[in-house]
Amino acid sequence: DESVVRRDRFSGGPAREFLSSLEADARIFAADIAVDRAHVVMLAECDIVDDETAGSILAALEAIEGAGHDALPDGEDVHEAIETAVVDHVGPDGGRMHTARSRNDEVATCIRYRFREDVLDAVEVTLALREALAGIAEEHAETIMPGYTHLQPAQPTTVAQWALSYESTVARDTARLFETLGRLDASPLGAAAFAGTPFEIDRERTAELLGFSSVLTNATDAVASRDVLLETTQALSTLATTLSGLAEDLIVFANRGFVDLDDDYASTSSIMPQKVNPDTLELVRAVAGDAAAGVQGLTTTLKGLPRAYNRDLQRATPHVWGTVDAVTEATEVAAGAAATAEWNEESLFGAAGEGFSTATGVADLLAMGGVPFRTAHEIVAEAATAAEATDDSIREALAATAEEHLDVPLDTFVDPTALADALDPAASVASRDSAGGPAPEAVRDQLAAVT
Ligand code: ARG
Repeated sequence: DESVVRRDRFSGGPAREFLSSLEADARIFAADIAVDRAHVVMLAECDIVDDETAGSILAALEAIEGAGHDALPDGEDVHEAIETAVVDHVGPDGGRMHTARSRNDEVATCIRYRFREDVLDAVEVTLALREALAGIAEEHAETIMPGYTHLQPAQPTTVAQWALSYESTVARDTARLFETLGRLDASPLGAAAFAGTPFEIDRERTAELLGFSSVLTNATDAVASRDVLLETTQALSTLATTLSGLAEDLIVFANRGFVDLDDDYASTSSIMPQKVNPDTLELVRAVAGDAAAGVQGLTTTLKGLPRAYNRDLQRATPHVWGTVDAVTEATEVAAGAAATAEWNEESLFGAAGEGFSTATGVADLLAMGGVPFRTAHEIVAEAATAAEATDDSIREALAATAEEHLDVPLDTFVDPTALADALDPAASVASRDSAGGPAPEAVRDQLAAVT
């Protein structure tokens, strides 16, 4: 029995389990069936395998596909197991399926075929996230909130400006993923082990049948290279890093009472009845660690591998699947959490004026009135300190420090109404209407570019 012979080829020794990727290959089961089909159709079209044999192999593949990955016979990997099953169905002629190819080009093709789908899914969820962020911006173009640097109140801004800042970053994350998709979309099939084949195969045809837009020409490159997996994993890791910042912001905002997370994205404590915790966002934040680990795992596995094929590559692939799964899921959850969060406008506005966060605007006003900006900065900084120390109003402190520095009253340089505006968080935001600024009209221009 041929299949028994084939199975016996698979080492029965103590390293049997260690050697096998059959379980992890469940991920590329459907891809391998597709690759087998395309290859067999091409072999028949090129008169390398007769039509009748090709037909029986295709029928066997259909049955094997229906039975699923779990029904496969034992094997070193999914490619060998499917071939064994084909031979079981067809008899020795089933072995013609593996003419003019190797598992090396086969696995490289399967990975690209499957990963292309996964990356498309990842791109799709980034679009959902961007939609959620643009939705927040649309709704909160005038919702004033405190802006932070070093987690300290810095200048008032708007929720829309905050949301669009992440939308802009995620847009680049999407573009990076999309770009790698273009390079992923090339077929290694027909490279054989690394040195081509004497059979007159048609690599363009299998590429076409598998929906690849080009052939990865150099046969040695085609089986040995995993650089496109690496760059895509890096792009996913960059996206995960963006997500971690978004999650951290929302965690801080929830902590300060600025946002209420929807129950679907919050967790309760098993012991403290009053608690509503941002657990899902903490997990999103943590996925940046998984993704960085995936990049590291892949890089260190690939580093220093000689041409052309080495079995190390078998352990490289799971880093890719793990990363794309974690990052896609995290993106989806981040989009849901952001889209459903309720923004507490009152507490946001209250906090926006705290900590003399309008100080920059006051310094700008003095500078517009003719005071050198550095002097204006000193005046306002001293006023901020004095107001804290003496509990004076900012206005009184400003009048005092300004006169000290300039030897004339403050209103020589600054109109009192303009000063009142500069001290008001909403007016302060409205004044910062430079391109890309938080003023509602500048935000509307940004939104128009996005939606
Ligand atoms: N399971 C292997 C992998 O993932 C398939 C290729 C095996 N090729 C070989 N020459 N041993 O890389």
